[in-house]
Amino acid sequence: MCGIIGYIGSKEAVPILLDGLKKLEYRGYDSAGIAVLKDSKIQIKKCKGKIVKLENLLEKATPKGNIGLGHTRWATHGKPNNLNAHPHNGCNSEVVVVHNGIIENYMPLRERLISEGHNFISETDTEVLPHLIESNYQNDLTLAVKKSIKEIEGSYAIGVISTHDPEKLVVSRCGSPLIIGIGEGEMFLASDIPALLSYTNRVIFLEEREIATITKDGAEIINSEGKILQKEVVNIDWDEEMTEKSGYKHFMLKEIFQETMVIRNNLEGRINLSTKALELDNLSLPLDKITEIERISILACGSSYYTALAGKYIFEELTGIPIEVDYSSEFRYRKILLGKKDLTILISQSGETADTIAALRACREAGSYILALTNVRGSTISREADSVMYIKAGPEIGVATTKAFICQLMCLYILSLYFAQVREALDSSEINKIISELIKIPQMVEIILLREPEIIKLSEEFLSFHNFLYLGRGINYPIALEGALKLKEISYIHAEGYPAGEMKHGPIALLDKTFPTVVIAPRDRVYTKVINNIKEVKARDTLVLAIATEGDKEIINIVDRVFYIPKTSDILYPILSVIPLQLFAYHIADRLGCDVDKPRNLAKSVTVE
Ligand code: M6R
Repeated sequence: MCGIIGYIGSKEAVPILLDGLKKLEYRGYDSAGIAVLKDSKIQIKKCKGKIVKLENLLEKATPKGNIGLGHTRWATHGKPNNLNAHPHNGCNSEVVVVHNGIIENYMPLRERLISEGHNFISETDTEVLPHLIESNYQNDLTLAVKKSIKEIEGSYAIGVISTHDPEKLVVSRCGSPLIIGIGEGEMFLASDIPALLSYTNRVIFLEEREIATITKDGAEIINSEGKILQKEVVNIDWDEEMTEKSGYKHFMLKEIFQETMVIRNNLEGRINLSTKALELDNLSLPLDKITEIERISILACGSSYYTALAGKYIFEELTGIPIEVDYSSEFRYRKILLGKKDLTILISQSGETADTIAALRACREAGSYILALTNVRGSTISREADSVMYIKAGPEIGVATTKAFICQLMCLYILSLYFAQVREALDSSEINKIISELIKIPQMVEIILLREPEIIKLSEEFLSFHNFLYLGRGINYPIALEGALKLKEISYIHAEGYPAGEMKHGPIALLDKTFPTVVIAPRDRVYTKVINNIKEVKARDTLVLAIATEGDKEIINIVDRVFYIPKTSDILYPILSVIPLQLFAYHIADRLGCDVDKPRNLAKSVTVE
């Protein structure tokens, strides 16, 4: 989705804005632009296309100035083109705005402003903002912004500069994230932490409808009623290196190869590796909540929804608590049947997915306690949930999630073992047994990653197919869904994930020799059932690639290709079986020349409904 960067200080703004925009590229965008204020004049440069195009434009004539705003646009209202790109200005180029979100009542506002003599040139909802602020301006930019945001409906994160008030940036947010970065004699603004990490780790998270007036020496933040607020300065423990490719061809590949490390990070501080004891003391979830709850709902979108589905198997198996899983976008519009005996777990890597935020608010209204699993400290979901468990993935830049998926699974394992312990659903020897396997997972992941050359070879053999079926059963069914999603989102090849046992109720009609099938078939309790399903597939002349357990000789005689993963407990297989599927999708997409880290039409975090 759109990205915002802002700078005010004594350095030239353009290089900082460009650097920030590059760090925001991963969010997904179709056009980019900057605005720089100097000597009571604002210069805007913007264009459709990649940031490198904007850079070329700027090389020809670089605006000078120490205050500026930058934006990457992901089109919602109006096609991606030069005119619709941000920043947008009012009638006299005196007020300039960048905006993330959607102004839902922009049509009546636009008509009113046109009747008052304002001239519009784009098709965007955003353009009403500079005109509105311009019409509300009476010697104070902050007051004009405050008055204007009272008139708008929808979601917004905005950065505003004006020739009338040339020493400040005025910013506000509602529904879209915005972060203020604190430097020495300089201040920054960004929609996302990675854009700030080259300059500062000290940030302030703006809350809904707060307005900040930023000068080079600091920020004064007020609420929508004008009351001055004392905001907490948060130190972010991510560093700049984490947002670099570090020699890898793509962020996605780097992130897959970080999986061993992030799994260890999740074990650290949560499981004592020598005593195997669970140590979740800093999880602020009250013990009586864990013992009292009668049902858990897990809500999420996209890949996070697939970890939620795996979570159902994990929690039900280990704790005996009934689990319901839903897409946030579906849940939010249904009759909500939650109450005080329910726990809601929200899973969101970014913590900013609009549908998951809306689901959170609906659950809160219904009286359910909310536990969030998220990667981003200070994100909306982390701030609005009752308790948070951080998934400790570090910044994930590749649009297709990989390491965060693994980390979400890790958190679900640890959390459900903790619930099982507190509720005495399992005895300590059973818990110890699973923990002993869980702590071996990092070495097993290393073994899988060392086998990357085998996956490269497999991807070469399969890359010319146009359709794939991914099958899994039980806890590996969500992994089939995730494997198919990975392939389709980065290679644009059609892939369908299905429960292996359900395949004969429909999808089997699709199968022939042009439609290969990837089957997750570890030696678990449903192995023989999956083998039967594979035979049904093979009877249709379909090429089958199996993800199987090391040492399984039987499967070689049934399928066409096998990739082996180490042996582990039935319940832990997803964390291993998903890795070859991530690598398989990556190498196919890379070989096909796709933009792996920034697939078309996709955004890293979907901050609009
Ligand atoms: O940040 P979130 O976990 O809430 O994001 C949810 C989905 O948008 C995300 O998982 C999406 O499906 C990714 N493209 C998957 O690779």
